[in-house]
Amino acid sequence: QWPSQVKVKEVGPRDGLQNEPLFLPTEDKIAWINQLSKTGLTSIELTSFVHPKWIPSLSDAKEVARGITKEKDVVYTALVPNQKGLERALEVNIDEIAVFTSVSETHSRKNTNQSISQSLSSVNVVVKEAIKEKKRVRGYMSTVFGCPYEGVINVEQVVRIAEALFEMGIGELSLGDTIGVANPKQVQEVLDVLLKRYPAEKLAMHFHDTRGIALANVLSSLGMGITTFDSSLGGLGGCPYAKGASGNLATDDLVYMLNGMKIATGIDYNKLIHAASFIQEKIGRDLQSHSMQVFNSQ
Ligand code: HMG
Ligand code: MG
Repeated sequence: QWPSQVKVKEVGPRDGLQNEPLFLPTEDKIAWINQLSKTGLTSIELTSFVHPKWIPSLSDAKEVARGITKEKDVVYTALVPNQKGLERALEVNIDEIAVFTSVSETHSRKNTNQSISQSLSSVNVVVKEAIKEKKRVRGYMSTVFGCPYEGVINVEQVVRIAEALFEMGIGELSLGDTIGVANPKQVQEVLDVLLKRYPAEKLAMHFHDTRGIALANVLSSLGMGITTFDSSLGGLGGCPYAKGASGNLATDDLVYMLNGMKIATGIDYNKLIHAASFIQEKIGRDLQSHSMQVFNSQ
């Protein structure tokens, strides 16, 4: 009953590094992304073109995008909040633009200084312009399974924002469990509602692993027919504007599980571990994924 194939979208260079207190030198980011590009991953979110004062650790977005060696089978994505961000992204030939909004009014204001409806108008401009420029466009919805400020969000609200984003023309919607509060039953319930409206191919899951149940949530999603998952190597990551947000689902743990289940990912686990140990050394602390704990204890 499991799908035969799954697409893993690596978000570590963006979601992982955005939450790091240190500014990782541009050349190290580039070297890491180049390693990731050779692991078999087919999608890498390499940076974000948000306001550099809001996320100083990614203020070198253009230099990173210009510096990498692109592999032809890899789609390179960047996170973009508004028209100004899109202008910067278009200068450096990004393949896919990722827009984002929140289903929680309070998180939206904290994360983008905008209400949800203001955020949706900024996003709309970006989506329309990016499509005109023949870019792929994906959308993120944050705090789908719970918000640090507002608690559990009504599923009607989730549907309303999803509808707005799909109407703008996004190709894929990623459902963010921003602070890692989802559980497998809740995942089924939310997906049950969304899958009545959209095909599974248009949905992706973006779990954070704050409480260690991200992989359980992946299994639950797989059972519902979802085949696209966002993850971050070594479990790096988090949203600095969501209190309590911590690391993403770890790519290495996800790939270990999927490869073991004979669900094709096309990704070489050993190459992932190699790339994880590279970035671990650069940021100067042990990565928290289970796979890296095993690696570090050997
Ligand atoms: P603002 O301060 O309200 O911006 O920030 P503004 O529109 O009032 O503009 C003020 C100045 O900033 C202007 O310059 C703009 O040009 C400039 P001035 O005219 O004063 O000289 N500006 C920019 N400069 C560079 N790049 C830009 C840009 N935009 C405006 N893109 C804004 C509003 C949305 C920009 C800001 O709040 C922001 O950048 N927020 C992003 C925060 C962020 O990156 N959060 C983490 C990512 S989301 C996430 O992690 C969740 C996710 O992983 C899914 C999940 O887990 O749920 C995706
Ligand atoms: Mg995230």
